[in-house]
Amino acid sequence: MNRNQVNPHNLTWQNTSVGKRDRHNRNGHESFVLWFTGLSGAGKSTVANLLEQVLFVQGIHTYLLDGDNVRMGLNSDLGFSAVERRENIRRVAEVAKLFVDAGVVTLTAFISPYRSDRRMARSLYADREFIEVYIDCPIEVCASRDPKGLYRKAQAGQIKDFTGVAAPYEAPEQADIVLHTDRQTPWESVQQILQYLVARELLPAETLLENSRETKECPR
Ligand SMILES: Nc1ncnc2c1ncn2[C@@H]1O[C@H](COP(=O)(O)OP(=O)(O)OP(=O)(O)O)[C@@H](O)[C@H]1O
Ligand SMILES: [Mg+2]
Repeated sequence: MNRNQVNPHNLTWQNTSVGKRDRHNRNGHESFVLWFTGLSGAGKSTVANLLEQVLFVQGIHTYLLDGDNVRMGLNSDLGFSAVERRENIRRVAEVAKLFVDAGVVTLTAFISPYRSDRRMARSLYADREFIEVYIDCPIEVCASRDPKGLYRKAQAGQIKDFTGVAAPYEAPEQADIVLHTDRQTPWESVQQILQYLVARELLPAETLLENSRETKECPR
């Protein structure tokens, strides 16, 4: 609900004395969400994890909301129908918004297969605060990686509603960042994201320079 809307439950938005700007000033960087989307096995968790690690060691305040983890807690009541997937994404988008308000660079790693759901998520944020990162990887490659053995099960008909096999994946038409994990390493993907963030002054330029120095220490 918009804070200016009249509402049936007589709710009033409570302004807080400490705001997002104050947190940015203290942290020395802005906050925003990097919304990773792509097929299972495309590399959302892999790339998001590495990126978080790289940012964290540089003192950037970060948090990674990862699909399975959130589904094992907050969203444990939700399944994989289109309606439940929408609610999954709505809750994650709202939680990520709280993290962004708290001044944290927030990464979300969810398949988020429906365009309309991702659009809904984006609509909660100011323009600069929502960055859609599409992990574009052919399904054959994802299925051959099959890190969780899910494609094997889905192909055997053991998982209902599995994205790419028995449920659709609607690829983004205008993602802010597109990564091709079938032909770029996780580290190259991280570099591409950092370059985007620094070019838009979302992170200080030193982030990139520091990272160049850290390359050797970073796991692949
Ligand atoms: N270039 C690459 N970039 C990212 N991951 C890669 C790459 N090459 C191989 N992989 C492997 O592919 C797998 C990707 O799995 P990951 O769990 O990150 O996918 P995911 O998109 O998070 O899937 P899910 O939606 O099921 O959580 C990992 O085992 C990773 O090591
Ligand atoms: Mg994952």
